[in-house]
Amino acid sequence: MSSKPILFSGMAPSADSLQIGNYIGALLQWKEMQQANDAIFCVVDLHAITVPQDPAGLPDHTRRTAAQYIAAGIDPTMSILFVQSHVSAHTELAWILNTITGFGEASRMTQFKDKAAKQGTEAASLGLFAYPTLMAADILLYDTNVVPVGDDQKQHIELTRDLANRFNSRFGETFVIPEAIIMKETARIYDLQNPESKMSKTSASDSGVVWMMDEPSKTAKKIRSAVTDDDREIRFDRGAKPGVSNLLTILSAFTGTSVELLEQRFAGRGYGDLKGEVADAVVSTFEPIRSRALELLDDPSELDRILAVNAERAEAIAQPMLAKVYDRVGLLPRVRR
Ligand code: TYM
Repeated sequence: MSSKPILFSGMAPSADSLQIGNYIGALLQWKEMQQANDAIFCVVDLHAITVPQDPAGLPDHTRRTAAQYIAAGIDPTMSILFVQSHVSAHTELAWILNTITGFGEASRMTQFKDKAAKQGTEAASLGLFAYPTLMAADILLYDTNVVPVGDDQKQHIELTRDLANRFNSRFGETFVIPEAIIMKETARIYDLQNPESKMSKTSASDSGVVWMMDEPSKTAKKIRSAVTDDDREIRFDRGAKPGVSNLLTILSAFTGTSVELLEQRFAGRGYGDLKGEVADAVVSTFEPIRSRALELLDDPSELDRILAVNAERAEAIAQPMLAKVYDRVGLLPRVRR
């Protein structure tokens, strides 16, 4: 690789489609950052199976996630775009990291607590508990400098940094300490029907989630039905006006216009106008992405070929790092006959 900083990020293939929060919180940054960085983008299928899932749907979800990355502007000949389970070093390094992670510190991860609470803590798997160490392995295998994510992932990246420092001090300098890149304004997009909670691919109800792969008419309808408030003023105020603030954030991300300018532009106008502009902006951005993704999905063998080539590129970096880690930890090398 070159002397550019190394970027790593990923998304779980846990649905047919990415949602608007994934796009604004992560994918937009990925696209903008892939020129200035040596970028590696992963479809983290091993993370997707940490909660109950349908094995019959997973291959399709994985291909669809990869297709949406490419359709949104990730170039798989410049950046590396691969599927996590295709490179076994990820789970192997995760095991090593498990051995230096405290039970207490893993128990403090808020994503685990939230997801475990959803399923009932007794039903939560050991895999879900170890989600953050697998994520740390993803990042640390590649000498990653920067990790662009939404703010819900901040704590996991803090843990990754702690583990890298701990490993380095116990076993000798091995890992680069990565940094989270979180865009303050767009770090968290909220559910349209429930603007107090984060929008999520695994949300219980579909009506508040805007999907990249939805029909444009469906997307526009959802945005027009977004929950607002009884007041009439278009103003950013997360506490008092969560629905309107969320719509302003979305419009700002899609148009590149600051929230302050939007507030001025919408002064004296109604919520219907705001929703109309948000719907137009989202549909005109997602429509071409959706069409391109569907085209790519029409030829799954070509998509699989791209993923295979890229898995080789990722493995060529990950495998030597894993070997170095095994050596540092004192594992007896297997002699090849
Ligand atoms: P996932 O699939 O849950 O989320 C993918 C990315 O989308 C961001 N995101 C949001 N941003 C703003 N508003 C929202 N409502 C919203 N919902 C999701 C997430 O912050 C994330 O950046 N654990 C990761 C996947 C992962 C990973 C990694 C990321 C696995 N290994 C290594 C970076 C580096 C995750 O949250 O996926």
